[in-house]
Amino acid sequence: MKTIVIYKTKYGSTKTYAEWIAEDLGCEAVDVKSIKVDDLLGYDTIIYGGGLYAEIINGVTLITKNIEKLKDKKIIIYTTGITPTDVRAYYDGEVIEKNFKKGIPENVKIFNFLGKMVQSELTTVHRLALVSLKKIMSAKENPSDMIKLLVELCDADGDFSDKESIAPLVEYAKEK
Ligand SMILES: Cc1cc2nc3c(=O)[nH]c(=O)nc-3n(C[C@H](O)[C@H](O)[C@H](O)COP(=O)(O)O)c2cc1C
Repeated sequence: MKTIVIYKTKYGSTKTYAEWIAEDLGCEAVDVKSIKVDDLLGYDTIIYGGGLYAEIINGVTLITKNIEKLKDKKIIIYTTGITPTDVRAYYDGEVIEKNFKKGIPENVKIFNFLGKMVQSELTTVHRLALVSLKKIMSAKENPSDMIKLLVELCDADGDFSDKESIAPLVEYAKEK
């Protein structure tokens, strides 16, 4: 089974997970910048990692737009984000709807990990985006618990990455 981990990262969290996963699987972790879809055709298992930005999995269209070409591959997608991973309504609802308009393809399995958001490292654009998002969501009348949580998360500050959390992904990747 030939496996590759590819990732797209802005602040490094998704790369850290890619390196942990690649180390456990004894394969390579490669920045998506240096990959074209045809480079993936020689692999049996493709693991794609991207950070969540307004629920979009950074760069995942490399996989979703080429799903027909990759239909005989075992594809694993992981996300990193600051939303607690037990908020399944978020991950199994909004995140899936925004990234997989036609539903999750049969050969794709998704894992969600906690990432990193260090306020002092954020670009001005990202900091302003979070400020305006917080303002919009705070203005909602009768906010749902989800909205309240998302407002709170705009101020998250720290590295919540957890090496142990990759175990189910690694186990699944090893399955024949
Ligand atoms: C502008 C902005 C938007 C974000 N949107 C989300 C989001 O929708 N859901 C989430 O869980 N985390 C969100 N995050 C947190 C990032 O997904 C998290 O920091 C992730 O680990 C970044 O991965 P990367 O550094 O590898 O790109 C956001 C962070 C920023 C700066």
